Amino acid sequence: MAPKNALYPGSFDPVTSGHINIIERGAQLFDEVVVAVAVNSAKKPLFTIEERVDLLKASLTHLTNVKVVSFDGLLVDYLKNNDLHFVIRGLRAISDFEYEFQIAHLNKRLDKEMDTVFMMTSEEYFYVSSSIVRELASFGGDIHGLVPRPVEEALIKKFKKIG
Ligand code: PNS
Repeated sequence: MAPKNALYPGSFDPVTSGHINIIERGAQLFDEVVVAVAVNSAKKPLFTIEERVDLLKASLTHLTNVKVVSFDGLLVDYLKNNDLHFVIRGLRAISDFEYEFQIAHLNKRLDKEMDTVFMMTSEEYFYVSSSIVRELASFGGDIHGLVPRPVEEALIKKFKKIG
């Protein structure tokens, strides 16, 4: 049987503990999880694409069946070009659902051979988002535990430089 691989796409600006939790659980469901950082998803990201990829790699050293890539353009094109058929998306609250539902159907329309697999974010992280973490860090708030260690250090450094 062919290995079942999945793509976990996102902006990851930066990766949070909620994302890591989804990746860890996804890596138990699939033979390989490809974490794909979107180059153009946010207009003005805090971290460059290289920084976001490096922070993910540094935060995922404990998982052997996970790799980190970046992609530009449409998600479905990356799927087709890399013979991938499953997309993992995390769902935190009902408020995520409408957008995710829309995108999942749109992607399916563009690529009939793909499917989106939704995973519920663990309850301890359901309120954590990259934007909340960025805001908290910008005001010097405590982000310990909300993000993996390498991200915590990078955020503190980034806002020391900016501030
Ligand atoms: O972490 P995010 O910001 O929720 O991730 C959104 C992302 C990057 C997965 C989504 O914007 C995406 O797939 N972007 C690539 C372009 C694309 O295919 N868009 C969907 C059809 S318009």
